[in-house]
Amino acid sequence: MSRFASVAWAVFLVCRATRLSSSEVEGPILDFASPRNVDRPKFRYWFPDASVSTTVIANDVKTIKDVGGGGLELLSFYNYGQGPPLTNWSTYGFGTPAFKEVLRAALNASAEHGLVFDFALGPNQGQGVPSEPATPGLAYELVYGVTEIRSGIINTLKGSSAMDLTILTMSGTLTWTPPVSNGTYSLFAFYERYTNEQNCISIPNAQTWLGNGSWMVDHFSATGAKKMTDFWDHNLFDDDDIRSLLREAGEYSWEDSMEMMAALWWTPGFLDRFEKGRGYSAIKYLPVMFQASNLWNGYSPPYNTTYIFDTDLARTGGKYLQDYKTTLNEGYQEYLQHFQQWAKSLGLGHSAQPAYNLPLDMQADIPIVEAPELESLGFNEDIDLYRQFTGPAHLAGRNVISTEIGARRIGAYALTVPALAGLLQDSYAVGVNTMVIHGFPYTGEYVQTTWPGYTPFQYEFTEMWGPRMPAWRHFGDLMLYAARNALITKIGVPKVDLAFYYSSPSTVLSDIYPGDDLTRAGYTHEYLGPANLASPNVTVSGGILAADGPAYKTIVIYNQTSITSAASAALLRFARAGLPIIIAGPVPRTSLDTDNQAEISANMEALIGLPGVNVMSARCFSPAYLSAMGITPRASVTTLSGSNNGSLSTFWKHDESAGLDAVYVLNRGKPDSFKITFAVQADSVPWELDAWTGSQTRVATYQRTNNSVTLNTPLQQNQTKIFIFARGDAPEGVHAVSHSNSIKSVHFNTENKLEAIVKNNKTATIALSNGTVLTLPPRPLPPANLPLGPWSLTIESFEPLSNTSVQGRISTLPPRTLTTLVPWTQIPDLQNISGIGAYETTFTFPPNLTITEHQVLLHFGPILNTLRAWVNSSPVPPVDFADPVSDVTSLLRPGLNSLRIEVSSTLFNAVKARLPTILSAGGPAQAPGDYTKADYVPFGLVGPVEVEFLRRVSLEY
Ligand SMILES: *[C@@H]1O[C@H](CO)[C@@H](O)[C@H](O)[C@H]1NC(C)=O
Ligand SMILES: *[C@@H]1O[C@H](CO)[C@@H](O)[C@H](O)[C@H]1NC(C)=O
Ligand SMILES: *[C@@H]1O[C@H](CO)[C@@H](O)[C@H](O)[C@H]1NC(C)=O
Ligand SMILES: *[C@@H]1O[C@H](CO)[C@@H](O)[C@H](O)[C@H]1NC(C)=O
Repeated sequence: MSRFASVAWAVFLVCRATRLSSSEVEGPILDFASPRNVDRPKFRYWFPDASVSTTVIANDVKTIKDVGGGGLELLSFYNYGQGPPLTNWSTYGFGTPAFKEVLRAALNASAEHGLVFDFALGPNQGQGVPSEPATPGLAYELVYGVTEIRSGIINTLKGSSAMDLTILTMSGTLTWTPPVSNGTYSLFAFYERYTNEQNCISIPNAQTWLGNGSWMVDHFSATGAKKMTDFWDHNLFDDDDIRSLLREAGEYSWEDSMEMMAALWWTPGFLDRFEKGRGYSAIKYLPVMFQASNLWNGYSPPYNTTYIFDTDLARTGGKYLQDYKTTLNEGYQEYLQHFQQWAKSLGLGHSAQPAYNLPLDMQADIPIVEAPELESLGFNEDIDLYRQFTGPAHLAGRNVISTEIGARRIGAYALTVPALAGLLQDSYAVGVNTMVIHGFPYTGEYVQTTWPGYTPFQYEFTEMWGPRMPAWRHFGDLMLYAARNALITKIGVPKVDLAFYYSSPSTVLSDIYPGDDLTRAGYTHEYLGPANLASPNVTVSGGILAADGPAYKTIVIYNQTSITSAASAALLRFARAGLPIIIAGPVPRTSLDTDNQAEISANMEALIGLPGVNVMSARCFSPAYLSAMGITPRASVTTLSGSNNGSLSTFWKHDESAGLDAVYVLNRGKPDSFKITFAVQADSVPWELDAWTGSQTRVATYQRTNNSVTLNTPLQQNQTKIFIFARGDAPEGVHAVSHSNSIKSVHFNTENKLEAIVKNNKTATIALSNGTVLTLPPRPLPPANLPLGPWSLTIESFEPLSNTSVQGRISTLPPRTLTTLVPWTQIPDLQNISGIGAYETTFTFPPNLTITEHQVLLHFGPILNTLRAWVNSSPVPPVDFADPVSDVTSLLRPGLNSLRIEVSSTLFNAVKARLPTILSAGGPAQAPGDYTKADYVPFGLVGPVEVEFLRRVSLEY
């Protein structure tokens, strides 16, 4: 539903912007001030089991709505599937009638509040469903027994001597005489069997199969997927009410990253599929497939002895292992495709964290999923790893890229809101645009669970967002900020300057292009794998790869040695069609598997002979090299200080039908002023959008050429901005092109006239786009900053009501006076308090100044968790964590003014102080050291809080 809606508003908008006079224009992005629910973050919503209260479930959903969230992902956690059950899981297990009522309650509440509803396909991580054990569709593995004939434990097998004795077996026995030789033979017998692994444990004396836990399904066949969907169809969606609620509120069926084990992942019919696909029988090569690299996340080898062939110099298992992975991946793709079709039949999409951690091809699999999802934790919060995920998605036209965001293994209640904001910002910087916050736990009572409430993962992972958190009262500001950035990063199609080719045989993600020199110069890049290049419908036109999509200007092959025949053929096709290709480091000429090596060699040989294909050492590759080749960034960046401390990430979206380009910028480096040149059409009008306040403002100072707009912008560390270039609706009139340093900024006032904000008493000049240069005579010096205080501080302390319930209470501590602002950790009785502090003071607007002739800024000092402020009881718009300064001019009055600032803490200190008495689902904190070894964390308003006065001058021109 969302995509059609967005096209509709974009068209509508163009008409509207031309009709209104510019002072009435709200801005080029219609929903920006108040984004729709599909753009707002969702929460992963954990509940412990189906014994929970459906009233509390419905209320929790409403709480998500009330804070400004967009929806939820319903996940029945069952203590990570491990139990022990504290309630009767025969009755309250996943998929039981009790579970169905929880599902119904959550769906009902989502529909009632207009929220988006996703659901995990099984308990814990959605990897299995209740089943009779050992029935078709459940997870399979291959195991073996081995017998040494003659002597010794060996682990290097003579590849050429391997033979398949299957034909000689009869009813499980084998009669065979080894050839006469001096060697030792290892006789392997392989068995296909069910792994019998459960994603939720069985319970003793379960009455029925339905109450007997959930079983991992086979992830390498459509049969495994069908096992899951049949379960849903027959047990949960066999209900018109639920199906119709699902059509109303449902968005995605969902599966988490795969966490499952097997000696060697397998599926019935694997050998036939292998032989058909790879052209030879796998049987002789099975012993070498039991490698650590085939286990979950390369964890450890499944047997004490790992076999390799004597010809395998790299000792990796060799090309047979890659052929195994390719074959396994084909089965996995059928598994994913089944969910796609099933979800579609229900009016939903499917979302999954595809492939990674397993011996599969993530890059090939991402495009199959409607809403592919990565995670901040599993991707090490590393945006270069995110780019390995976004590239395949963008190339395939997937415009929804989801992320499970905010899990850190630092102890629950330790994540600050600015830290979460930082993770959100990094995601948008590479086009990850759909946030699923990890998470929101059930708020009701649960067995053997104390304040602050049910805490999944036994306090090991963050975060337990919800009303138990002091920050929740201010959390809506972040929800809106997130939603506005999501909306912008979902517009149109992404435009990315460079595609890097990489081939990764590993289940472990690692960085490819080191450093951030490309980013500093403004280049954007992402990564594509062999399967992505080889997609038949990826084409080059006008020297651009996928011109209607990400429109890469070149492919860079940086430090890569291997490739497939199909990808090598694609490179040749691209180069012949005029795409520049840069090979920095070795020319990849090696097949990782038994793919056609001769074809690869021939293709790569032909490739490097073509004009436009540049081979160089990895060391010589640089932004300067790209620029010398004529490959320029869409947003080129320099710092005004020349310090090169800043590192500005940009992410570019283009919407042809709406006639606009949208660019998200994030400074991940030190504070600096950046000069950015955006490659946009001559009739584009620049706007700056503020994701914190929702404002859309025409940029008043910029330079234009017939194919670019250049502007300067200061950015603090971790500060983001949004620039929109709206085509064809240029309002009449002049703008500034530059100004002297004594001017802080120039903007359009409400009458659409230029106004300057002057920061000192020097003569100031402003050059206008009509050629006029205005000179402002020296001004009186603006008054010095006014430091505020003393403060009255009132703390609301978040505490348990008792030791036996999840209920908390808020006690208001007696007000105190602070002459200087210090963190609570430095105030003896506040050290272990968590809560909200309200700071109040008054100040007099200097009687010799006129408010309207000034811009008055309020500086808050660092925000340690969250902050909200009121001037004369009117709310100050949400404050940017990275640049905590607000223009409060319009809220001031002559004479006495009052200021109230509320700040929150995390719940960490209060939890740390009570660690011995806390329990969740019967257990204490899993890693008590996260609390006992850590110091109390400083929170509070630390300032300095000051009022700054700048002169406001209307320009006459
Ligand atoms: C066994 O080893 C001996 C001594 O190294 C050698 O002479 C003989 O040819 C070997 N026999 C076979 C069957 O390989
Ligand atoms: C593998 O090695 C471990 C540690 O040496 C030993 O305890 C275990 O019995 C071995 N397993 C097999 C199957 O040999
Ligand atoms: C190729 O075309 C199909 C069908 O139009 C589309 O679904 C797919 O996303 C395209 N793939 C790429 C890589 O563009
Ligand atoms: C090339 O990749 C290898 C690992 O595959 C790494 O050790 C090496 O540092 C990389 N070289 C460059 C120049 O990035």
